[in-house]
Amino acid sequence: MQKNTSLNKAVFPVAGLGTRFLPATKAQPKEMLPVVDKPLIQYAVEEAYAAGIRHMIFVTGRNKRAIEDHFDTAYELETELEAAQKLALLALVRSVQPKDMDCSYVRQPRSLGLGHAVLCAEHLVGNEPFAVLLADDLMVGPPGGQPVLAQMAAQFETLQQSLIAVQEVPLAHTRRYGIVAGKAVDGMNERLMKVNAMVEKPAPEVAPSRMGVAGRYILTPDVFKHIRNQPTGVGGEIQLTDGIAGLMSEQAVYAFQYEGKRYDCGSKEGFLEATVELALQHPEVGAHFRDYLAKLKLG
Ligand code: G1P
Repeated sequence: MQKNTSLNKAVFPVAGLGTRFLPATKAQPKEMLPVVDKPLIQYAVEEAYAAGIRHMIFVTGRNKRAIEDHFDTAYELETELEAAQKLALLALVRSVQPKDMDCSYVRQPRSLGLGHAVLCAEHLVGNEPFAVLLADDLMVGPPGGQPVLAQMAAQFETLQQSLIAVQEVPLAHTRRYGIVAGKAVDGMNERLMKVNAMVEKPAPEVAPSRMGVAGRYILTPDVFKHIRNQPTGVGGEIQLTDGIAGLMSEQAVYAFQYEGKRYDCGSKEGFLEATVELALQHPEVGAHFRDYLAKLKLG
């Protein structure tokens, strides 16, 4: 019997400029913007870690050094915290970089699109299935349930085929997403669909459905050759969506309606929603923040 391949690598495309958050992102990566007390990229890395992934691959660009520093030893800070016996803080700082987690970095020299960013990681991924996490999409699992990528990894264990996280989006918003259409398969988990069409950012009139791609993917390495050989797509960019659509010509691709919530932290509104909701759940500040919000007079 063929042994199932387990998932051990995750790719984080983090080379984007973050123009929607200027001037905050003039000199720091947008992925380092904190929601309450953790940078966006840390939420995504923790989600990958919780799905059993131990090798994190960051596709970075200029001005992204802070991400590398965040997942490295902070020698001076750690030495000072140790000397001051601030052991809880020391443990917090060290927890960002668990001992069994490896990080690799590769540069995307030019902004040629998400597909191109993923292709930049090909030599680090090799011939293995891998996850892609877009840190702009902050994903929170259902209360008491599994985080989103862990839900997907569990499906992948048995499927061994590519899997994309989807959610229903308003028809008026199809231009913001990769849109997939597909069919439920008898005997399979009802949250899974076998994809038969996939289009990047279609106009509502031509969208094949209202199922929008959220920024979580588990892909087989066969996707690389499709990305490499495809023409540029929407916005003049090399799109990951087109690569996955190409992959469908040789193997099945599934869409998975995850359980949980997505915050679009690539937009100011989504970022604020995430901040308010995660602050309300935060063990240290949640109760105080709830009281504060309750007293606010919203005109
Ligand atoms: C990217 C993908 C798109 C996906 C979206 C999810 O678009 O290209 O298919 O639906 O992420 O956030 P972006 O938001 O980077 O333009």
